[in-house]
Amino acid sequence: MRPTFNFMIFLKYSIILFLWFSVLFSTQVNAKDSLFETSVSFFSPLPQSMPGSDKDSPEQITLGNKLYFETSLSVNRTQSCNSCHNISNNAAGVDNLQTSIGALGKVGLRNAPTTWNAGMHVAQFWDGRAKDLEEQASFPIFNPDEMAMPSEIEVVSRLKKINYFPDFKKAYPNEAHPINLQNISNALASFQRTLITRDRFDEYLSGRIDAIDSDEKRGLEVFISKGCVACHNGSLLGGQLFMKMGLVHSYPNKKDRGVAQVTGNPADNYFFKVPSLRNILNTAPYFHDGAAASIDKAILDTGWHQLGIRLNKKDVADIKVFFQTLNNKLQNLSRK
Ligand code: HEC
Ligand code: HEC
Repeated sequence: MRPTFNFMIFLKYSIILFLWFSVLFSTQVNAKDSLFETSVSFFSPLPQSMPGSDKDSPEQITLGNKLYFETSLSVNRTQSCNSCHNISNNAAGVDNLQTSIGALGKVGLRNAPTTWNAGMHVAQFWDGRAKDLEEQASFPIFNPDEMAMPSEIEVVSRLKKINYFPDFKKAYPNEAHPINLQNISNALASFQRTLITRDRFDEYLSGRIDAIDSDEKRGLEVFISKGCVACHNGSLLGGQLFMKMGLVHSYPNKKDRGVAQVTGNPADNYFFKVPSLRNILNTAPYFHDGAAASIDKAILDTGWHQLGIRLNKKDVADIKVFFQTLNNKLQNLSRK
């Protein structure tokens, strides 16, 4: 897909090495009382608004919100985006299934990632095959394992029949034929750019040191000192790199080759996007194949496969306690 991909992987490995050294260095230098200083060197709070959202009008966001819940976007009118990325009443944007089930009952191959904060990832999907939310939006609509619509013509004619014209006209006032795939994708993306989680870890990173308690701080320290932070860093604790699943000890499920299926390059075998860990306690099961049913197993397994370490029960429990600080606090959103 991208000609510079190999170089990118090289670059990413170098970044990982660099991060490793900084982890080692900072945990030694700052052993005593500067967990906060160390933390802000790896993580940053989520921004108030999502990059690119300045161009989204309120009318586009409202239309996108309506389309997100629109079951007419699936072949038998049973499924909307929200069926697999449930955000009703502040839900976590997932279906909590091992792998998703499409409108026609087909069981998909991958676990549904959350739509919260997705617009801040470096690319979309576990293998990054869509560059942004706009490009991503049309995939599920036409995917035979998901919403399974036959064509753009069918999508447009359905939306016309259920009287979407006024909503599209308000959102795209200068266009004579505003109901088209490009605008559907843009509206869905505009709406999803409003999905930013808020949590106590951000309050901590913004300087309210007591926003997380001493047990959670111990967990944060374990997360940093064990090296998880080499891949899970930045404002999303992930979402920025592609890394091999099974970097140190190979991953048993060899069916899905991840990025290699997109690039055709064996060097990309089993590379997946490093997931964001925001709101992670609410998005089980875990991994691209949903193989880890619990967070304890996901923590234990990543320790083994990505870092080559056997975490003991206490480490796992500590890291899990830290993850509480990443729970989305937003309540009572006025969404269906
Ligand atoms: C049948 C369940 C299903 C439906 C319906 C569905 N999705 Fe998804 N979605 C998934 C799965 C599974 C993935 C991961 C697929 C992959 O990586 O190959 C995904 C990935 C995504 C991602 C990428 C997130 C990331 O972190 O990479 C976004 C954004 C998204 N979907 C938005 C939508 C929107 C918008 C709709 C409605 C137009 C929609 N989805 C409909 C199951 C679904
Ligand atoms: C070398 C990079 C790397 C390191 C180091 C790493 N991870 Fe990950 N992590 C990944 C990748 C890649 C995935 C996605 C793997 C997949 O689904 O196939 C992942 C997935 C996860 C998941 C599941 C997320 C989800 O939404 O499914 C959790 C939880 C997690 N890691 C926690 C940790 C913890 C805790 C540590 C430290 C013990 C750690 N990771 C170290 C790269 C890394």
